[in-house]
Amino acid sequence: MSGCFRSNRKLTMAVSACVIIAVMALTVGLCVGLGSSDEVREDQPRFTIDHEANSFMLDGEPFRYVSGSFHYFRAVPEAWRSRLRTMRASGLNALDTYVEWSLHNPHEDEYNWEGIADVVKFLEIAQEEDFYIILRPGPYICAERDNGGLPHWLFKKYPSIKMRTNDPDYIAEVGKWYAQLMPRLQHLLVGNGGKIIMVQVENEYGDYACDHDYLNWLRDETEKYVSGKALLFTVDIPNEKMSCGKIDNVFATTDFGIDRINEIDEIWKMLRVQQPTGPLVNSEFYPGWLTHWQEQNQRRDGQVVADALKTILSYNASVNLYMFFGGTNFGFTAGANYDLDGGIGYAADITSYDYDAVMDEAGGVTSKYDKVKAVIGEFLELPEITLNPAKRIAYGKVEVTPALALLSAEGRAALSKGDPVESVKPKTFEELDQYSGLVLYETELPTMDLDPALLKVDQIHDRAHVFVDQELVGTLSREARIYSLPLSKGWGNTLQLLVENQGRINFYISNDTKGIFGDVSLQLHNGGYLPLENWRSTAFPLDQASVELWRRERSVQKDLDSFLARQRILRNGPLVYTGTFTVGEVGDTYLNMAGWGKGVAYVNGFNLGRYWPVAGPQVTLYVPNELLKVGENSVVILEYQRANKTTNGADLPAVQFDAVAQLDGQCGDVTLK
Ligand SMILES: *[C@@H]1O[C@H](CO)[C@@H](O)[C@H](O)[C@H]1NC(C)=O
Ligand SMILES: *[C@@H]1O[C@H](CO)[C@@H](O)[C@H](O)[C@H]1NC(C)=O
Ligand SMILES: *[C@@H]1O[C@H](CO)[C@@H](O)[C@H](O)[C@H]1NC(C)=O
Repeated sequence: MSGCFRSNRKLTMAVSACVIIAVMALTVGLCVGLGSSDEVREDQPRFTIDHEANSFMLDGEPFRYVSGSFHYFRAVPEAWRSRLRTMRASGLNALDTYVEWSLHNPHEDEYNWEGIADVVKFLEIAQEEDFYIILRPGPYICAERDNGGLPHWLFKKYPSIKMRTNDPDYIAEVGKWYAQLMPRLQHLLVGNGGKIIMVQVENEYGDYACDHDYLNWLRDETEKYVSGKALLFTVDIPNEKMSCGKIDNVFATTDFGIDRINEIDEIWKMLRVQQPTGPLVNSEFYPGWLTHWQEQNQRRDGQVVADALKTILSYNASVNLYMFFGGTNFGFTAGANYDLDGGIGYAADITSYDYDAVMDEAGGVTSKYDKVKAVIGEFLELPEITLNPAKRIAYGKVEVTPALALLSAEGRAALSKGDPVESVKPKTFEELDQYSGLVLYETELPTMDLDPALLKVDQIHDRAHVFVDQELVGTLSREARIYSLPLSKGWGNTLQLLVENQGRINFYISNDTKGIFGDVSLQLHNGGYLPLENWRSTAFPLDQASVELWRRERSVQKDLDSFLARQRILRNGPLVYTGTFTVGEVGDTYLNMAGWGKGVAYVNGFNLGRYWPVAGPQVTLYVPNELLKVGENSVVILEYQRANKTTNGADLPAVQFDAVAQLDGQCGDVTLK
């Protein structure tokens, strides 16, 4: 029986003795369960593969999992246990999660393991809630997260870094990261008494590239810590590039959703070409799908999903539902895609990661949940669990007062990271060590010899509000491919481009750094263009700490001058609005941003994420009950372009807290009153 993947095993000559031992341990891990060995030895792996029965084996017994994805970084930590319990109540016996490098290592040599980054605590709670765990540490995870989870500071440290390849700079940094991460998780591996049964190596790599030196290195680096105490695996999209993702001595799985369920026999055959025996696994069965701004919210029918799940399980396959609970891309963590089927170019992901998953964004059960649970119950025992879902409460309308103009001296002092950086070319976000938010680029305009003259930018990542002497003259956009606008002679002296990072590309990732690239130039009478130089770059990270600090430290409630306060279109730059609301009973709620333009919202200092109701389809931002308290609560709105106001501008603008989510708003359908 040649079930172990021994053939073609290659080891690079440079590997150390300890790595060779680790790889041998892995090979043993894949091979046990082959014979009919009744005696389970102490040192034998607990989780293995039976290549004759094409099954997983756990402690000598055949084992199959039905797992669900839930990424800890998409729910506040106080909500982790209730989300997990709701998942377990559906019959799932395993939990699948990614680990997000950029969350834990936001700046070089700076690590974060607290709060929402306490991945060890999350996994311990999952164990307590009776889950086996499928760990997907990447380090590239895609996941519709900024830069696919890879830290932005790698771009600054190594300007020509080739992520996800054998580039020595990249693998040195991955090695350094795994040395921080993996020792924290080792006690949770099944062979060490924990519940982690599988650990992924890379993510859908075959579809991206074919660098086996890199994959083999990453396998060995992962196995250095796993040491046969759990099973290494890969996930590849079922297509002709699958073999590029297959790694010798690593268990291969695939992923597909309801749109390919009719091809299921073909897909298993493709997987069998890579791996002739062993259990069949769909590591990402999609019960919903991701959504971009300016497109319709993605929905998938619950019955179709349940039927497809039943089909997959009828093959004795193991399966992971991606996502079972999606949650939220809080703050600026949402990513973006590029060049999708219709060739639409850059498209940013929405803040919600509801995903039309089995559970909704607030962790509630849905009709899809009931249908999926009924199918799981045909294959696995359903536990007796009583759920206590949080109440959803409409706190109603809250008026907000304009309190700070971002481009004013006060606004810069309060919210910028420091003094402007002066340079010939504009500095990128990464050069300023800035994850997201905004960067303001300013320079002096030359004397113009045309009226009007076209202002042209080679590349903008991703969107710029353009001002001359603090007055709005237009918007440039990578999504809409608008890279130029006319300026009239005599409009003023200082040109200002306020650039927004809308999320780094998470799929086919390469070099999606942010800011202005190439030249910013001005049309000349002779037909040429004059590149503008000598820029001042001012960073506005807009992280929750700085915004909340400003809100609390405002000693006197100083209202803005009435001209700015009356504005509907924000012609002089973004405004910050503040308001308070009183909570009698704490519950989940949704901040409805209807009538506003584009910006970021904070509740009690927590950055809920980007809103953009004029683009749609997402209209409400999820506010977890864990953020609220009985008594007075604060809301801060940083609006970039349009206040919620009628044309006469008489009333204060308002937001509204609703009891229901609105993710299916019309895209682009906005009625200005
Ligand atoms: C599933 O497993 C059972 C028990 O081992 C076996 O009898 C059956 O033939 C398998 N079905 C498929 C489709 O492989
Ligand atoms: C990223 O790479 C692409 C393809 O090589 C190139 O066209 C583009 O200019 C690069 N962008 C930046 C911002 O470096
Ligand atoms: C402003 O928001 C309030 C509360 O959500 C809403 O009722 C109103 O229609 C909005 N106004 C405009 C002009 O969009």
